[in-house]
Amino acid sequence: MTTLELRNISKSYGSVRAVNDVSLSVPAGCHTAIVGPSGSGKTTLLRLIAGFEAPDAGSLLLSGAPLADGNGTFVPAHKRQVGYLPQDGALFPHLSVAANIAFGIAHEPADVRERRVQELAEMVVLDRAMLARYPHELSGGQQQRVGIARALAQRPKLILLDEPFSALDTGLRAATRKATTELLDAAGVTALLVTHDQAEALSFSDQIAVMRDGRIAQSGPPVDLYLRPRDPITATFLGDAIILAAQLSGDGWSTSVLGSLPVDDSTRLGPASIMLRPEQVTMVGGSAADCSAQGHVLDLEFIGHSCVVTVDVAGTRVQVRCAVGGAPKVGARVSLAVNGPAHVLS
Ligand SMILES: Nc1ncnc2c1ncn2[C@@H]1O[C@H](COP(=O)(O)OP(=O)(O)OP(=O)(O)O)[C@@H](O)[C@H]1O
Ligand SMILES: [Mg+2]
Repeated sequence: MTTLELRNISKSYGSVRAVNDVSLSVPAGCHTAIVGPSGSGKTTLLRLIAGFEAPDAGSLLLSGAPLADGNGTFVPAHKRQVGYLPQDGALFPHLSVAANIAFGIAHEPADVRERRVQELAEMVVLDRAMLARYPHELSGGQQQRVGIARALAQRPKLILLDEPFSALDTGLRAATRKATTELLDAAGVTALLVTHDQAEALSFSDQIAVMRDGRIAQSGPPVDLYLRPRDPITATFLGDAIILAAQLSGDGWSTSVLGSLPVDDSTRLGPASIMLRPEQVTMVGGSAADCSAQGHVLDLEFIGHSCVVTVDVAGTRVQVRCAVGGAPKVGARVSLAVNGPAHVLS
């Protein structure tokens, strides 16, 4: 089992600090998702771990052994036992799908290689008939799945996946993600996955690291980050959030347009921003005495499984969700009830 340790890693390209003083510990067998806006340094971080870039400062250890440090240690990529699926897939165009998958296990006997290719193709839901094709004869999603199979072929200790499921449609994406997660779990592979998909980050990982401007803004278990993000940007990155100006009374309560609400901080006092997830708020028609606030509907947006309802509560816009069948009309008076404490942002 493999533990990856990043200690104060930095990497600049000219004047751009792509990765800035990043420290992260990835325990053996852990699945870590790296999320963050475009240009925040996610790919650069993976390339540093894979060995395609050397850090300007800081050290990188795998199972306690240094891969790169400030004292001249640099283990080249092919000696790291790290599987890497680059963001663009980058399959070898002159090799068949089977040969692409088997690229890293060329030294194995032919029958072992063939069995492994079949097993991996099945895992990533690739039809056997495709093994004889060439990359240009596959769709973008199929090429991505070949890339995942290739990265896993050598049974790496650590695998780095840069947006591996981005070209797949929703159903196939969920199926491939589940199959990949199960295979990584069964083999005890430590994994880092870069994704732009909130649901993917929350469901794939044991740990999420949110990157911003080359730094890790926050890291921790998915539930902690979802319920207790440090700031509004991280809060909205991981899902819809209702962020309100509030007064904290120092005893675990707050006052805001949604009335008097319990909060998860019983020490802070004075003005603060508080956050609720939309699923904490329920809406009923008319004026209900047991609700903490009333307002009227400004707008309705149908998003498939539910409706997003924008409610004007004393001049503040609050977005809540409701079942499509039970959506109120624009202009209707509604009452809002809050379940569970609000989170105090720092
Ligand atoms: N080889 C390079 N030369 C110069 N600048 C680079 C190089 N690679 C990355 N950068 C810059 O470093 C920063 C981080 O880039 P990186 O590719 O790591 O971002 P990212 O988070 O993966 O973004 P995306 O979500 O768009 O893939 C960007 O400003 C980028 O332009
Ligand atoms: Mg990238």
